[in-house]
Amino acid sequence: MDAFRIEGGVRLKGTVSISGSKNAVLPMLCATLLAPGEYTLTNVPVLRDVTTLSSLLRTLGVHVVRDGSTLRIDSTRAVPNEAHYDLVRTMRASVYVLGPLLGRFGHARVSLPGGCAWGPRPIDLHLHAMEKLGARISLDHGVIVARGAPLRGNVIDFQISSVGATGNAVMAAVLAEGTTTIRNAAREPEIAALCEFLVAMGAGITGIGTHELAIDGVPSLSPVDAAVIPDRIEAGTYLVAGAITRGEIELRDIREDQMQSTVEALRATGAELESTEAGIRIRGTGEIRPVTVSTEPYPGFPTDMQAQLMSLLLLAHGDSTIHETIYSDRFKHVPELTRMGGRIRVEGGDAMIQGVPNLTGAPVMASDLRASAALVLAGLVAEGTTEVLRVYHIDRGYERIEEKLAGLGARIWRVRQS
Ligand code: UD1
Repeated sequence: MDAFRIEGGVRLKGTVSISGSKNAVLPMLCATLLAPGEYTLTNVPVLRDVTTLSSLLRTLGVHVVRDGSTLRIDSTRAVPNEAHYDLVRTMRASVYVLGPLLGRFGHARVSLPGGCAWGPRPIDLHLHAMEKLGARISLDHGVIVARGAPLRGNVIDFQISSVGATGNAVMAAVLAEGTTTIRNAAREPEIAALCEFLVAMGAGITGIGTHELAIDGVPSLSPVDAAVIPDRIEAGTYLVAGAITRGEIELRDIREDQMQSTVEALRATGAELESTEAGIRIRGTGEIRPVTVSTEPYPGFPTDMQAQLMSLLLLAHGDSTIHETIYSDRFKHVPELTRMGGRIRVEGGDAMIQGVPNLTGAPVMASDLRASAALVLAGLVAEGTTEVLRVYHIDRGYERIEEKLAGLGARIWRVRQS
């Protein structure tokens, strides 16, 4: 398992290009199951999660070929085989095949994903949505068995705003008979991007980007080519890298309009941010101000940026609070950041952070994707050497992070370990 060795203390400077969004491309890949034919997706990040999902799609008869940041997909011979536990357990987003398989073939078998690094992450809302569309759901030795042909439009009123359940429901509904209304739909840009992709394929979806989606089922869809939107979480992570090292970084290839809550939170800490022709520039100032932030569904502050913001707040002049409202136990990074000198107290879903003047390098263990990013960020500013172990987590969602950071002047190396 690879590790990163980081020697902290360099003010990062320069320009970094942001890759395509992991959370946008995963449902788009699954959506190719809805219409047989050839698709070309561009701006696809080279990430382990994309490789995993490509492997899963291959087990469903889909051809996936990568050429740099382009994926060519041929779903002509797609079949509703079982989505096996070996692949599903490594990536929860695999459950995104449920809606398209059910919508297109009238039945699906998808292994129930297990727990997650930060506690149980249920999929009851996904199953509820399928049932609302007329599917019968049962569990067969750990495998979700869904049947229902044809699916019929209905009103789906989500109790909780869920990105995955909204995406799955939309993909199941586009080929259903009649109209489906999804209330309390997730408004995340990745869901809007999925809907736009489906509309390009011929789906009838209105209300994109709002809490209520209306989907008029169509008999069939056609393949299309599309570009993946920029990754707002990767972008936010590099903004924190600029702030925490008191550096100056320009981000290119971003959608600033999709990053407002992150930009606002960083401004509140005292970082200077300005729009540029190519994207956005951040300048870290001397003093980091403490803030109180709550994670919220989009357009609120993303839970996927919580760990990275925490690393910055460790060095604030005063006490900060982070309320984690999406996943109340998503604090795996806390004990590791504490090993680097951070002062954090967690009570329920709240983390109270008492700013310290500096962090010190230490060997630390990555536990999940965003927690790993937080450790790398802390390592960039810590005194001495930080070794982040188990970076395979970070390879799931950050394209060439060590190269991109090194390009900004960071002293970071990948240490190959068997
Ligand atoms: C997606 C993102 C993930 C992000 C999360 C929240 C992808 C591939 N992953 O995950 O990076 O952290 O959104 O922005 O896009 N819930 C239920 N029942 C369900 C589904 C969800 O109770 O069936 C709850 C979850 O426990 C959580 C909340 O709903 O408290 C939101 O989760 P959800 O938006 O579904 O997250 P994911 O789609 O899994």
